[in-house]
Amino acid sequence: MSVSQTPSIRTLDKSGKEITTVGFQRFGFDCEVPLDTLRSLYLRPHYVTVAANAEEDEAKQLEQHAHFTRGSELYQSKSIFHADTHSISYTTLSRFPPVKLLPPTQRKRILVTGGAGFVGSHLVDRLMVLGHEVTVLDNFFTGSKTTVSHWVGHPNFELVRHDVVEPFMIECDQIYHLACPASPPHYQFNAVKTIKTSFMGTLNMLGLAKRTKARFLISSTSEVYGDPEVHPQHEDYWGHVNPIGPRACYDEGKRVAETLAYGFHRQDGVDIRVARIFNTYGPRMNPFDGRVVSNFIVQALRGEDMTVYGDGKQTRSFQYIHDLIDGLIALMNSDETRPVNVGNSDEFTIGDFATLVREIVEKVQKEDGELPTRRVEIVYKPMPTDDPQKRRPDTTRAKEVLQWQPRWTVRMGLEEMVRYYKAKIVEGSM
Ligand SMILES: NC(=O)c1ccc[n+]([C@@H]2O[C@H](COP(=O)([O-])OP(=O)(O)OC[C@H]3O[C@@H](n4cnc5c(N)ncnc54)[C@H](O)[C@@H]3O)[C@@H](O)[C@H]2O)c1
Repeated sequence: MSVSQTPSIRTLDKSGKEITTVGFQRFGFDCEVPLDTLRSLYLRPHYVTVAANAEEDEAKQLEQHAHFTRGSELYQSKSIFHADTHSISYTTLSRFPPVKLLPPTQRKRILVTGGAGFVGSHLVDRLMVLGHEVTVLDNFFTGSKTTVSHWVGHPNFELVRHDVVEPFMIECDQIYHLACPASPPHYQFNAVKTIKTSFMGTLNMLGLAKRTKARFLISSTSEVYGDPEVHPQHEDYWGHVNPIGPRACYDEGKRVAETLAYGFHRQDGVDIRVARIFNTYGPRMNPFDGRVVSNFIVQALRGEDMTVYGDGKQTRSFQYIHDLIDGLIALMNSDETRPVNVGNSDEFTIGDFATLVREIVEKVQKEDGELPTRRVEIVYKPMPTDDPQKRRPDTTRAKEVLQWQPRWTVRMGLEEMVRYYKAKIVEGSM
């Protein structure tokens, strides 16, 4: 079968319609991007040829790559994984993915702090494909150069190693301020640094926005609601946060970052946007950072028992990365200066979620012709301090002011993510 005829995976949205693009056309801002182009950037193992039987494998890899990306194989690199020495020979991309040619009036200079992290790198892919000039500022604490390395050398792209607690000067039109570790083990690793990043980093970036008159979007979090007494959480709820608990460096850090943003807005007229992001998952999430989705998938893929903390009755809602990026871009380009919840309100108990992940891992393994030796069990362990019992966004505001709502079902998102982690295992990097 030729590459272009190879069938690709079908992804259906909540109403059963096939998803072929992400993004939207609103606020005079056309930001639709083919899903296959994005997939070709993050389903990375399809870039890698395994050294043994190189010729045969290369044909297979090409076919697999096309399976996910409908022929976007032109911009794959031919990095070679040497299984015997467990090493990899990187090459650069043979060709960059096509980016839109925008007229200068529409092309924006966009700064993305934390752009080498999980959320940041997906935002960067989207903004690059849309034809903007993107600068990534990152200290690589939790992010990695590899998440954006496919853009290095592109004339519209710049990667700067920099810590946002130090001032930074650049000319720009928009700032997406994402820099901050987001998973509990990472933000608790150095609590003082986390709060410093939230406060001083945001102060520096707001100062930059003030000087350049750039529009400023901060990635805040549902953690500003703490362990909420109100359910679901609406933007007008002030929260219930323990100011001295182990999560406080992050929760209070984000609260003070929001306070700073509104201070600059009221005093200096800085044009701000505040996104309160709820649990998000997707490819490029660090598999070992202790977040529930990656924990479950990695454990199930390795045939290890899946760990649920507490009795499994606590609830969470999970949003897929492409929906979040749609929401962030919509918010940035809207006129809304109030905080906006961006999340998926489909609620799962953690126990049910573990069962769903196991089912999807088994489905993908079956499709790939793998037969695990035993079925993984779901085991229960004591709950960590201050872990909220319930968390679900009220997204009415996002629907009303951004005409945004999640399109991806948890099942579809999980399937893509399982394939991504499986691919990382094949690549030898996990
Ligand atoms: N992923 C989620 O579910 C979620 C939920 C709510 C809010 N958020 C917010 O979204 C943003 C991105 O989260 P993520 O999941 O991509 O996390 P991540 O850890 O993958 O990315 C954070 C990025 O910021 C960089 N960074 C950290 N401290 C920095 C500093 N002092 N200077 C420069 N760069 C620094 C890291 O190296 C990394 O690349 C964070 O602000 C986070 O609080 C994420």
